[in-house]
Amino acid sequence: MKINIAIDGPSASGKSTIAKALAKRLNYTHIDTGSMYRACAYLALKHDLRPNDEELVDYVNKSQFEFNENGHILLNGKDIDSKIRSKHIDLLTSTIAQNQAIRSTLVRIQQQMAHTKGYILDGRDIGSVVLKDAELKVFQTASIESRAKRRLTEYQVKGIDVDYQTIYDEIKLRDLQDRSREHSPLTQTEDAHVLDTSDLTIEQSVDQVYRWAMELIEERRDTND
Ligand code: DC
Repeated sequence: MKINIAIDGPSASGKSTIAKALAKRLNYTHIDTGSMYRACAYLALKHDLRPNDEELVDYVNKSQFEFNENGHILLNGKDIDSKIRSKHIDLLTSTIAQNQAIRSTLVRIQQQMAHTKGYILDGRDIGSVVLKDAELKVFQTASIESRAKRRLTEYQVKGIDVDYQTIYDEIKLRDLQDRSREHSPLTQTEDAHVLDTSDLTIEQSVDQVYRWAMELIEERRDTND
């Protein structure tokens, strides 16, 4: 008995880290939908196009989006994961994600990928648009301070020179863009469980979502008996 799990929440709240660990524990497939929007920003840079150019929509429609066994995104067969995690791509992606034509293409692909059960998708519109019928919906939050601290550590590990205040301001700006955009803004659905990870370790966060998932799986197993 498998279910689908939708995890939504703001930038740098650790959704992908939690989703990945949870997928491993449940033996489910994780899809990081943010990396698909990031791949579109990569396409825009590669072809020197602006976020609203029709030509960008054409490139997105013609492209193939897949994930390999490490959860890395493959754009037209090429692993671009290491190229889509920079400050520049962060902000460009947030603007590109406002383009409704691009959103509908990516939503369609995501729905095709998760057409059966056993999927964990993380993003901004999973519970509200992509997998409205997901059995478990989680809205993952964390204070801007704790998210900025986590991002700073990530950048430092990669040897990227950046200060705390710059990261803090960028997260705030991306939150505003993601929450106030016209199409599919980040929203907490009424049926979502809220997980505030500000003071939780990764393990504690994964444990909590795992407990929610197991409760649902057991419940469904009992009603099917
Ligand atoms: O989760 P992330 O930081 O990798 O997401 C990158 C950007 O893509 C972010 O600005 C929000 C956007 N996004 C979206 O609009 N819808 C999704 N389902 C996933 C990400």
